[in-house]
Amino acid sequence: MAVREIVIYPDDILKKKCQTVEKFDDELKVLVEDMAETMYAAPGVGLAANQVGVDAQVCVIDVAEGEECELHVFVNPEIIAREGDIEWEEGCLSFPEMLVNVNRSRQVTVRAQDVAGNTFDLTAENLFAVAIQHELDHLNGVSLADKVGYLRKKMMLKELVKIKKIRQSAQ
Ligand code: NI
Repeated sequence: MAVREIVIYPDDILKKKCQTVEKFDDELKVLVEDMAETMYAAPGVGLAANQVGVDAQVCVIDVAEGEECELHVFVNPEIIAREGDIEWEEGCLSFPEMLVNVNRSRQVTVRAQDVAGNTFDLTAENLFAVAIQHELDHLNGVSLADKVGYLRKKMMLKELVKIKKIRQSAQ
């Protein structure tokens, strides 16, 4: 297992729809393990494969509080049902130090595959539902920059340039 480098916005891989996973092999298992480790190290509550530079429909989520650990892995996920509305102040590991208010469905049912390729359905609400919608957005090339107006986006981009420079000089 290894912590992978997180891609900071803007980067082309964060702006395109990721490819469907067809091979449920060891490479996928390693990717999922690395993504989980990267998410926990950050720390964050969710991570999509393109955020570590991999073009694949895979995301990991863990919204358990405190010391609890409840890892959810979604391969080729799609939302098949939605209910209600909720507004959430969302952060994103590809947008360090930023929070954006986003309108989401309060409850979603997602259909996905696990690392072995087995299909499952899962219904989630509140923070878990928000995290699922956020990560699925990533897998479809949509991120927090697409949830704000033109001016806010411009300000975010300026800020991200600064953050990238600081991170590079710290390496
Ligand atoms: Ni994100």
